Amino acid sequence: MNDLVQKVKASFLEKFGRQPVLIASPGRINLIGEHTDYNEGFVLPGATDRAIILAVAPRKDDTCRFYACDFNQDFVTSLGHLERSDLHWPDYLQGVLSVFLQAGYKISGLDLAFGGNVPIGGGMSSSAAIEGGLAFALNYLYDLHLDLLTLARLARQAENDFVGVKCGIMDMFANLFGQTKRVIKLDCRSLEFEYYPFEWEKVRIVVSDSLVRRALATSEYNLRRQQCEAGVNLLQKHYPGIKSLRDVTFTRLVAYQTEFEPTVFKRCVYVIKENHRVELACEDLLRRDLVSFGQRMYESHLGLRDEYEVSCRELDLLVESAARLDGVYGSRMMGAGFGGCTISLVRSDAIKLFKEKVSADYRQATGKEPAIHVVRIEAGTRVIQE
Ligand code: GLA
Repeated sequence: MNDLVQKVKASFLEKFGRQPVLIASPGRINLIGEHTDYNEGFVLPGATDRAIILAVAPRKDDTCRFYACDFNQDFVTSLGHLERSDLHWPDYLQGVLSVFLQAGYKISGLDLAFGGNVPIGGGMSSSAAIEGGLAFALNYLYDLHLDLLTLARLARQAENDFVGVKCGIMDMFANLFGQTKRVIKLDCRSLEFEYYPFEWEKVRIVVSDSLVRRALATSEYNLRRQQCEAGVNLLQKHYPGIKSLRDVTFTRLVAYQTEFEPTVFKRCVYVIKENHRVELACEDLLRRDLVSFGQRMYESHLGLRDEYEVSCRELDLLVESAARLDGVYGSRMMGAGFGGCTISLVRSDAIKLFKEKVSADYRQATGKEPAIHVVRIEAGTRVIQE
């Protein structure tokens, strides 16, 4: 991490010739509870030791100069001309500036350099790390006195309205509220949350990046959202009190199965079961029963593969390969899907074998090498004091 901070800081000094404020903004993992956040359900994420480092300094005018260290690309705009760009990465930054301006917060232009070790587009939410990081930086630099929840909401709005992905709040929430060695059980309706210790001397979290990136991820993601809404609309005719799939039990859903378009029905089945799995998985954690917890991860994966249909062959291969190994408690695809990564809970003495075997299986089946990272649960977005 320290090397990364020095690299971003050096790039900033070289480009802009003055001292920046440095912010570390982590990528997240999610143990279980996928595609439940925008259905007002439950999730269980945490911030990690993989982070985006932002070096930022305010300017006296409205100009915004950005530098992406990892792409060696510059982008210049001004607060009055925030528009989507073909480079894509500036949109996460511009989106945040745009929602802060819309909300009426007093900010100026800025110089900013950033770089990191969160796999880009890899399911650990590098985008929320950029958005949450800049929201945090603006709050700090301009003394706006906004609380973390307001920052998470603004960061989400940037992604929803400016970038155009209708995501839920999980990623930004984990990015900002993360704590060392703890995961967050978040109720995405009330936004009440509880920290659960996630500390095991002999177990590691392994993120296996398929390196597959699918362009249709955004359109399919937004389509899943619509399908869930269609399900809620249908169910509301029978249960007028419900607001989201969160309010429906499996039995109540099945009672009206014949009225459903089959695809919409499958989507609803998945969401209702996944919400229940998060609750049960949290009980497993309290009992420190990782075997049961791991089984729920496998079940979650099957649901994402067969009912929600957001997995892909490469992610399935990674999960199947992990499941064959001794010392693996559970494994599933993580994040939006259509490529990206899997998350596995692995006994520390089995990590070496995991890397060898999963890489070999993946290579044999796809001709490609996956990127396998062992990650730690760390604190959320923060200022780095040097
Ligand atoms: C992406 C979104 C999140 C969440 C997950 C799926 O990461 O940004 O809001 O919906 O997908 O659980």
